[in-house]
Formats: sequence, C-alpha cells, structure tokens
Amino acid sequence: MSNILVVTGSVRPNSVNKKIVPLVVSELETQGATATVADLEALNLPFFDAPLSPNAPGFEPTNEAARQWTQMVAEADGIVFVTPEYNHTLTPVQLNAIDWIGKEWEGKPIALVGYGWSTGGGQAHDAAREALEVNLKAKVGETQTNLFFTKDLTPDGDVADADTVQQKIAATISELLAA
Ligand SMILES: Cc1cc2nc3c(=O)[nH]c(=O)nc-3n(C[C@H](O)[C@H](O)[C@H](O)COP(=O)(O)O)c2cc1C
Repeated sequence: MSNILVVTGSVRPNSVNKKIVPLVVSELETQGATATVADLEALNLPFFDAPLSPNAPGFEPTNEAARQWTQMVAEADGIVFVTPEYNHTLTPVQLNAIDWIGKEWEGKPIALVGYGWSTGGGQAHDAAREALEVNLKAKVGETQTNLFFTKDLTPDGDVADADTVQQKIAATISELLAA
C-alpha cells in the first residue's frame, strides 16, 4: 500500500483547489493508495527564513511547521502537487513549501495535477519540474494532468467534463503509483 501525500496549492477562501483535491484523493483510494492531504493553509509555514540553505550541511528546520512538513515529505512514498497557476508559475505558498526542504526531495516520486486557463496549469507544471526535478532531483512523472477552465472545468472550478477529468487524473495517479 502506497502512502501518498496530496499537497494543496492555494489559500484563497473560494479556491478551486478545494474542488480538485478531493478528486485526487478519491482517485488515489480507487487505485489502492492511502492519501493524506498536506493542507498548506493549515500548516502555515513561515516564509523561508532559515540561516542555512536546506541543501547546506547541517541544515535543520527552524520551526515546528517546517519540521512537520519535512516529516510528511520524508515519510510519503509519493507526492501529488495540486497546482493552480499564478502568473505563469506555482503559487507562493507552494514555492515556499518547496524551499523549506532539501535532501528529502531527492528521488521522491512526484505527480503534478494542475488547472488554469490557456495551458491548464502547464506553466506552473514547468516551474514545478524545474524546481523539483532539475534542481532538487525528485522524480517528477511525465503524465501530468492539465485541467482547462471552460473545457474540463467551469470558470468556477466545478467539473464540466467528468469523464475527461477522471481519465486525466487517473493516468497521472497510475504513473505515480507505478513509480
Ligand atoms: C494572482 C493570480 C495570478 C493568476 N495567474 C494565472 C496564470 O498565469 N495563468 C492562468 O491560467 N490563470 C491564472 N490565474 C487564474 C487562476 O487560474 C484561477 O484564479 C484559479 O482559480 C486559481 O486557483 P485557486 O482558485 O485554487 O486559487 C491567476 C489568478 C491569480 C489570483
């Protein structure tokens, strides 16, 4: 049984993330995994303010939230980032969460589920791949989910095309669980 961490991506009160995360959790459970949600709003990590870089020898998380977040990542068999796209990149809350961790990302299987307008979150995925795969040496899956407003989702983030949304998320999860 794989233990998969699902990382939220927005702290807006009316965030579309709140509608997509349950779809990801449901698909993980359908495919036999155990899902735990890392709610970055509840975790409330401070902006990165440690004196050492997370990749520096001797780095330790400097606060309880960062310790808890590091442990969640370390213990997960795989991770799904549910990513909105803000200004062609990841949201600040996800970028900050990525920054708090160094070596625990190395070799970690990661899947990307995103949503947005013209690229369905594709530019957020590109940024995630650059940070997590190229820089931090995580294993980011090729089969990412891009959900498009007005096609797959309504402009409010409700599912518009249930079959397509489920198939896209299922393919991403399937690749993650095989990793
Ligand atoms: C600050 C900000 C920047 C945004 N930039 C983009 C963008 O670059 N590309 C895009 O497709 N949508 C962009 N959007 C629209 C978001 O995709 C849309 O608001 C989405 O619902 C945000 O996710 P959330 O509701 O989970 O916060 C942006 C929204 C915000 C608030």
